[in-house]
Amino acid sequence: MKARVAVHRDFRISTIDERLYSAFIEHMGRAIYSGIYEPGHPQADANGFRKDVLKFVQDLKVPAIRYPGGNFVSAYNWEDGIGPKDQRPVRLDLAWRSKETNQVGIDDFAIWAEQAGIDMMLAVNLGSRGLEDARNFLEYVNFPGGTTWSDKRRANGRQDPYDVKMWCLGNEMDGPWQIGHKVATEYGRLANETAKAFKGFDPTIETVVCGSSNDGMPTYPEWEREVLEECYENVDYISLHKYFGNKSNDTLNYFGKIEETGRYIQTIGGVIDYVKAKKRAKNDVHICFDEWNVWYHVREDDNRRIKEWDWPEAPALLEENYNFEDALFVAGLLNEFIRRSDRVRIACIAQLVNVIAPIRAEKGGPAWRQTIYYPYQFASLYGRGDALNIAVDAGTYDCRVADDVSYLDVAGVHDKEGGMLTLFIVNRHLTEAADLDVELNGFASPSLSEHLAMEGYDLNQTNGPTAPDRVVPGKGSGVGVEDGRLKGKLKPLSYHVLRLS
Ligand code: AHR
Repeated sequence: MKARVAVHRDFRISTIDERLYSAFIEHMGRAIYSGIYEPGHPQADANGFRKDVLKFVQDLKVPAIRYPGGNFVSAYNWEDGIGPKDQRPVRLDLAWRSKETNQVGIDDFAIWAEQAGIDMMLAVNLGSRGLEDARNFLEYVNFPGGTTWSDKRRANGRQDPYDVKMWCLGNEMDGPWQIGHKVATEYGRLANETAKAFKGFDPTIETVVCGSSNDGMPTYPEWEREVLEECYENVDYISLHKYFGNKSNDTLNYFGKIEETGRYIQTIGGVIDYVKAKKRAKNDVHICFDEWNVWYHVREDDNRRIKEWDWPEAPALLEENYNFEDALFVAGLLNEFIRRSDRVRIACIAQLVNVIAPIRAEKGGPAWRQTIYYPYQFASLYGRGDALNIAVDAGTYDCRVADDVSYLDVAGVHDKEGGMLTLFIVNRHLTEAADLDVELNGFASPSLSEHLAMEGYDLNQTNGPTAPDRVVPGKGSGVGVEDGRLKGKLKPLSYHVLRLS
């Protein structure tokens, strides 16, 4: 397959907001308990956090993390998680039909996030609760001292405020499954009042309002319009969520869902523009794609189990075993976020540990990196700078979810300060190698300084506790710069990170 690509250093889409590579972690399953936190584990530190898991997280350079939910937040009392651990109540987690011991709360999580070098992005409960509790939480988290809630924080051991700048106004409020589910205008008004109060407290706070739970919701995209009409001037982002899978075992259609996601982003961009125009508003609202990942391998099984179980504590839930095909998918989806980074400023992989996650950890046992860890890591490490507008001329295909899908998926980021151009490429062709020919415009004598590749694996291959490094990136070969052009062959079903200086 011939694959012509044209890159020009001055043809930019946007300067990427590094929060494009953020993550999400929820109190559910074993994400927190026996995920990041497991006192008594041989790897646990003095606070009970697992050092092996923390190291894998640190290596990802995650800029921000959304916490504590998810569906969980819609019936969560944040005060249950503060103060002496032996006095914290055990509660029913209504979202996931399990028990929440509250052994990790905001002050504990903040310690972990600080160790991991990650900024917190906190969600407030607008399901079972509302503005009153949200503002108390804000006071606890962000006010220096001398008030009821800020003094409680100080008494609990944290003197300085956390100064959290990103606040999510509830979670998936359009979903009938959500505790405290609302209709659009009702939610839009509550979100507006909450955002107003938060910005009144600190105008530099950024707020994220809930968009649809996914683009298949019956109220999509009307939900976005109605919600934004209520709160446009007081929000900075609207959230998008989407989970993916290949249940029909059709690899090309699976990859086509990346194209479909591009349409989803474009549609919401259109709704934002419409509301902005209608309101004669001056401010811009961007997209915060704060839940995305592959979720299908164990989904049906979990749906059945959760209905039958008797409110367990930290049960194994949504523990997806990702294969090589999923790694190729995730690489492509991250490419789409880079290509749409003018609209999508923040995106959060959902989630980070154990629950639909790039990192897994056995209770009392080892931790390992799943296949999808690597494309996420490479995007986070090397995808910072200017997203370039790249032209690709390779073969295309039609599938159920999209037409004209390119077999070659390319995104490029130019880090002007570091003087590096990084190309992220997936050859999606099932059988043909791509005969790559990249025109490099505006780069003086470019040379290939690094080529990383994930290739040659069976699509179903996975990593696991006894084979943690079965599917890993290696040094790529067969690509080089000739007369100012990057040329070479990329194997079918392969992923490449090409770094030029
Ligand atoms: O990430 C798992 C769940 O998916 C979240 O709790 C919810 O927001 C979404 O439906």
